[in-house]
Amino acid sequence: MADGLLRRWVLPMGLILLAGAGGLLAIAWRHGDPLGDAPRAGGGGLPPPPPPPEPERPFSFIFGGELAGRLGSPPCSQLKQGGLARVASVVEKMTTRSPNNILMDTGDVPCSEGELGELEYETGLGILREAGLAVAAVGERDLLVGLDRWREAKNRAAEGVSVLCANLRDDAGVPLVPAVATFVLGTRRVHVAATLSPSFEPVLRAAGVPVRLLDPAESLRQALGVAGKADMVVLLSHAPAGESRELLRSLPEVRLAITAHAGDEPLLEPEVVDGRLLMAPGTGWQNISAVRFVGRPAGGIDTVDTHNRAVSPKATPSPLVMMRLAELQRRTGEPGFLARSLKERAARRAGGPSFTGPAACASCHPAAHAKWSGGEDPHASSMRNLRRMDQEAIPLCLQCHATAAGMPGGHLEPGDGQGAVTCEACHGSGAEHAAKDGRVPLADPKASCIRCHTPEMSPEFEFDAAWLRTGHQRPTARMAAPAARRER
Ligand code: HEC
Ligand code: HEC
Ligand code: HEC
Ligand code: HEC
Repeated sequence: MADGLLRRWVLPMGLILLAGAGGLLAIAWRHGDPLGDAPRAGGGGLPPPPPPPEPERPFSFIFGGELAGRLGSPPCSQLKQGGLARVASVVEKMTTRSPNNILMDTGDVPCSEGELGELEYETGLGILREAGLAVAAVGERDLLVGLDRWREAKNRAAEGVSVLCANLRDDAGVPLVPAVATFVLGTRRVHVAATLSPSFEPVLRAAGVPVRLLDPAESLRQALGVAGKADMVVLLSHAPAGESRELLRSLPEVRLAITAHAGDEPLLEPEVVDGRLLMAPGTGWQNISAVRFVGRPAGGIDTVDTHNRAVSPKATPSPLVMMRLAELQRRTGEPGFLARSLKERAARRAGGPSFTGPAACASCHPAAHAKWSGGEDPHASSMRNLRRMDQEAIPLCLQCHATAAGMPGGHLEPGDGQGAVTCEACHGSGAEHAAKDGRVPLADPKASCIRCHTPEMSPEFEFDAAWLRTGHQRPTARMAAPAARRER
């Protein structure tokens, strides 16, 4: 009941207030607002011309995706854009402005797995649905929540949203979700379809998610055959950009393909592939993209314009969104919840690489450990800021501020030895190396930095200078301890 009241009153009130505050300018479209009014005909003293044939109303696809648990924008983000709270406030205004605007998500809603991931998926999809989401593709992160959990979260959150994937099957070969959703926009029929790259199948199976990913082009052709004729086909391809490009090339009936996994950089200009469009909105819903089409009276469809715009930090979340986010944080902040979820994930990865923690390294590399923990290296205290802000239990932050969260021997609960950027964050999993007296080589640490020092968090990151600032033990002053150990 309270929920119904909120939906009826708080949301519209929020919208009115926001519109009044100029919130509609939250996105500065490059070529003008694609969703604004059509140009008005000029007046004059002449008799009115005969009425022109009713023009077909333009229709727009609005999309973003790879939210990956990004509820707000982290304080260390230099761009300060995106985040579910802001995104919802922007898109709900767009979708309420025209029934011909179709809002779509490219997949990968949660960043966590298990119970925590289920909550993230349900909250994320639920908020986007309230903002007008019509279609969601399935990403591998969605499925990593666990098949049963994903199904339940989807059933609870996706009412009225078409969750699609043409080539996804369970172990018995049964489709898990529909392949195509059909929209009637004015006089036009539009099919929207989605696929997931088969390259994710091994990752999913290794994590205990028994799915099969069939050939996307073949599955799509079959599904479109069943769906019947349409004026246009739009594809959400949850695959690396190169694979999506090839898929678009092999399917001449697809007019617009939207790819995930194009990296942090969105395709600012859409790519034209054999006369059709490929777009990439980037990660974290940091960008909202739109393509507007218009039907010509003589039949056929023209693209009017395309846009790829950052979700400005000025966008103000509606009270309802804030309440749902607060509820998620309350649930995940319950004592023991995070630890339970991280341990569950680690248990499912028991056969994979194993971590050990900085204390184990100290026994043979005392100098390196002393340097790291001595106060000069900022990595050893990477959780301090988070603790001060009461954000040490936010899964998104742990990806960069802790080590191997939810991996065997990694960060599993607040206050453990891996609750920092430790040796193994850069040198890779070291349990075997430590157990075998250093005889198992470690990963190249220089390659690790940019995993966390991304263009968003550290735009001016440059290895040589940054490496000196860590105060890490220089390679020359190493290895006194193994000799001592050998004497035992
Ligand atoms: C039992 C003693 C021992 C422990 C524990 C140990 N190491 Fe080593 N480590 C060695 C020895 C011996 C070498 C030299 C191997 C060589 O040069 O062939 C070495 C070499 C290294 C190197 C340079 C070579 C490479 O493979 O990159 C790094 C870096 C390193 N260790 C990091 C670590 C880290 C991080 C830990 C904790 C996870 C750790 N070590 C734990 C004994 C140990
Ligand atoms: C993609 C990796 C990444 C994620 C995710 C991330 N951080 Fe950071 N964070 C960094 C890096 C790298 C730095 C150091 C940046 C620098 O100074 O170059 C940093 C620095 C910080 C700082 C210190 C900022 C300063 O100006 O001194 C705070 C506070 C912080 N992060 C909080 C958070 C919180 C809270 C979250 C989660 C909501 C988060 N971070 C998520 C990578 C990340
Ligand atoms: C921020 C990333 C980072 C962290 C954290 C870190 N290291 Fe390193 N470590 C490096 C890099 C980079 C090198 C230099 C490798 C090179 O020059 O080839 C290095 C070098 C070393 C070496 C010398 C390797 C050689 O080839 O001579 C040892 C030993 C070592 N680290 C141990 C440790 C231990 C033990 C810890 C934790 C107490 C630790 N490191 C924490 C990044 C890191
Ligand atoms: C697991 C994620 C992670 C990895 C890998 C990592 N860092 Fe960091 N780094 C951080 C975080 C988080 C901070 C911010 C710590 C704080 O102040 O709270 C940071 C801070 C720093 C800082 C201090 C801020 C600044 O920019 O002056 C330097 C320097 C730095 N890192 C260098 C490196 C280098 C060099 C490497 C690779 C050898 C590396 N880092 C690898 C997460 C990481």
